[in-house]
Amino acid sequence: MPNTILVGAQWGDEGKGKIIDVLTERADLVVRCQGGNNAGHTVFVNGKPHVLHLIPSGILRQSTVSVIGNGVVLDPVGLMAEIQGLNERGVTVDGRLWISDLAHLVLPYHRVLDALKENQMGDRKIGTTRRGIGPAYGDKVARVGLRLLDLLKWDRFTEKYRALAEERNTLFVQNDLEPVDIDRSLDELAAARDFLRPHVRNTALFLDEAIRSGKSLLFEGAQGTFLDIDHGTYPYVTSSNTTSGGAMTGAGVSPTCIDSVVGVIKAYTTRVGEGPFPTEQSFLADHFHGMGREFGATTGRKRRCGWLDTVMTRHAAMINGIDQLAVTNLDGLDTMDTVRLCTAYRLGDREIGFYPTDIDELAVCEPVYRDFKGWKTDTSGIRRLEDLPAEARTYLDAIAEYTGARVSWLSIGPAREQTIEIPMH
Ligand code: IMP
Repeated sequence: MPNTILVGAQWGDEGKGKIIDVLTERADLVVRCQGGNNAGHTVFVNGKPHVLHLIPSGILRQSTVSVIGNGVVLDPVGLMAEIQGLNERGVTVDGRLWISDLAHLVLPYHRVLDALKENQMGDRKIGTTRRGIGPAYGDKVARVGLRLLDLLKWDRFTEKYRALAEERNTLFVQNDLEPVDIDRSLDELAAARDFLRPHVRNTALFLDEAIRSGKSLLFEGAQGTFLDIDHGTYPYVTSSNTTSGGAMTGAGVSPTCIDSVVGVIKAYTTRVGEGPFPTEQSFLADHFHGMGREFGATTGRKRRCGWLDTVMTRHAAMINGIDQLAVTNLDGLDTMDTVRLCTAYRLGDREIGFYPTDIDELAVCEPVYRDFKGWKTDTSGIRRLEDLPAEARTYLDAIAEYTGARVSWLSIGPAREQTIEIPMH
């Protein structure tokens, strides 16, 4: 398999974990490049769900090496717990999980800061996962962040950590919030330091060697294009570059090594948290929640739901260089009489085919729909493209046409085998 970047082409939760799991079979290394434990990738192995937050989904295949790159912000105590959870399920990570020493740390005061900011914003809140992601990236950009390599130099780390924690505790107390217990958190961090130490290395050098020796790399994006700090629906975004460019800086590799960019989309659209969502439909939310789906993997929050928006997917294809699509959750639409696809927006008296940069304009865009006859067939047991109902194939062809990328994978259920690969003719 060539070197591939996989990105979400919507607002996250596109089903990336499952497609990564399928693609991992052909990859030697799987690399996380951005985000933190705000991500939640659910993968099913032998019918059992596994939710991974920081560790690349490749870890579930024994032959694959997993790398957490410099662009990730990681909670060391959370990461230790995630590895221990895998060990309990019989998955060992020794010698096949490497973490960049440059990765910035999410520390206990980041979580309190996240909650404080959200509470202070009231109606204008972002609806974050409250995992401390924004404040950790904020410290990184403000050049006061602490990295994994700092954690390994304990005396220097404790000095800087104490100073930052004390400064922030003053703010927390002023706002009637529980201050961080500095000594207790240092004990927990010391345990995580010892546990993680054997996995820490210069991952840019390691990845360079892997590329030179012809290994195949899969870069696993977290969140989605419209949560990107630059290209998303700012300020209702996460604090990292979730697009293909971000994968390169977040891993420390050159874009010239990339052969393909896979965009993952649901056959409809979902979003967690606040912000504009032109094709949102409350009846679709009721439909999916009634089926027991579309609840957040990290926070359990109900996802907002709407029709598939190809203005968005086209924009995502452009920004990321997507040449292949993986369409997931097609089976969620199996019972619909009519399936709608947004192909353009009406903005005032104009019809536009591009994604407006100003979210106030996006918020008043009216979707222009093309309607498709529903297939009214249970697709979850189908294993070949030719066996799909004609109506479903027509819908998929339209997705490819409006997005400008070929559909290479189709997913019709959570299990590995509920995936149809569509070969090039
Ligand atoms: P944060 O990343 O926790 O700061 O949250 C910022 C926004 O991104 C919120 O709207 C979250 O719901 C959203 N978000 C963050 N991570 C994910 C994810 O993995 N899937 C879907 N939405 C996410």
